[in-house]
Amino acid sequence: MTVEVAERPHFKTQSLEGYHSMGLKATASEFFLIHSKHQLAPLWREGWFDRRPVLLGEGTNTVFITDPKRPVCKIAMKGIRISDESESSVRVQAAAGENWHQLVTWAVAQNYGGIENLALIPGTVGAAPVQNIGAYGVELSDVFEELEAFSMKHGTFKTIGREECRFGYRSSLFKHGEPEWLICSVSIRLTKDHHKLSSSYQSLETYLEKLGIQTPGVGDLYQAVCSIRKSKLPDPKILPNCGSFFKNPVISMERFRHCKSMFPDMPAYPAGDSTAKGHVKIPAGWLIEKAGWKGRRKGGFGMYRQHALVLVHFGGSGGGELHAFMEEVTGAVLNLFGIQLEPEVHLIGDTIIPSTQT
Ligand code: EPU
Repeated sequence: MTVEVAERPHFKTQSLEGYHSMGLKATASEFFLIHSKHQLAPLWREGWFDRRPVLLGEGTNTVFITDPKRPVCKIAMKGIRISDESESSVRVQAAAGENWHQLVTWAVAQNYGGIENLALIPGTVGAAPVQNIGAYGVELSDVFEELEAFSMKHGTFKTIGREECRFGYRSSLFKHGEPEWLICSVSIRLTKDHHKLSSSYQSLETYLEKLGIQTPGVGDLYQAVCSIRKSKLPDPKILPNCGSFFKNPVISMERFRHCKSMFPDMPAYPAGDSTAKGHVKIPAGWLIEKAGWKGRRKGGFGMYRQHALVLVHFGGSGGGELHAFMEEVTGAVLNLFGIQLEPEVHLIGDTIIPSTQT
């Protein structure tokens, strides 16, 4: 048996520009990589987690709008393995630092179904449960079984099941309250039964129909999702962005009826959460487009011309400018519809954002 030795992390000052996909200039005064879960207990014993480090995957949903006052800890643990297999399904355990899209691509190559609709979602496996990533009618919670996490409060490991994760729309236990958990690995259940695949999301259905595919397999869905996403979402390596910048707001039926009387073409979807009975979800992209911000640029930031929900950074700008830009866009939507947009991304910046979000 190999015994992993607790490796001392590498502490240093680090520019964060290349560590978050929005690419704003920021510097961490202390930065280190976690390659193995065996590094965690020794750090905890030294009292290191009392300093509430910012946990970072690939930084595709985190924006550093100022220099973080806390240490930054990049989760870089690797490994994918099948931890259980039956005739109809497999359970896959993936380490938190694995790239999400690579996990999807691996699953599709094995012909395992369940996450192909989540292809090309940027970020790591460990970040996936935090906001319960979702696309094209599927959410992580549909395939999730459990995860292993380290308590930064108590210095112990725990297996956390689906119920305890309290998954909702872009939300989970890990987004609320005092941050306690550092996610080490995630286990998902994938199917070998291709009748269970999900292809009813409208843009996906239309795309498959055009190709004449009636019963899509795992590979067909994967290819379709990749091409739809590539056609309307900018590649962060070319044009820095974080995917959807705002959440789709969930509003009461009463407000919806009021808005609909003024904007009869306003789309709405089921809120999809048992806590949101009597509510509907409105596509924020539609609201932003109607408010005149689709494809509009101001200084270094703009709302993408192909998809109004994606805030893009043309380069060279800072957090203050981003904040002002966000205020303009959300202000325009609020004025027109009386609906307040909330960021979907995690904004880190001690001077601008309330401390609960940093
Ligand atoms: N729309 C517009 N104008 C636009 C963009 C969208 O009017 O410029 C309207 C259209 O009515 C369209 C509707 O918004 O039918 C929904 O658009 P889309 O299918 O692109 O989905 P979305 O609600 O904007 C969500 C996720 C995406 C995910 C897609 C596909 C959120 C915040 N975003 O976007 O996730 O890829 O569904 O399922 O829930 C991400 O989280 O970063 C992300 C990209």
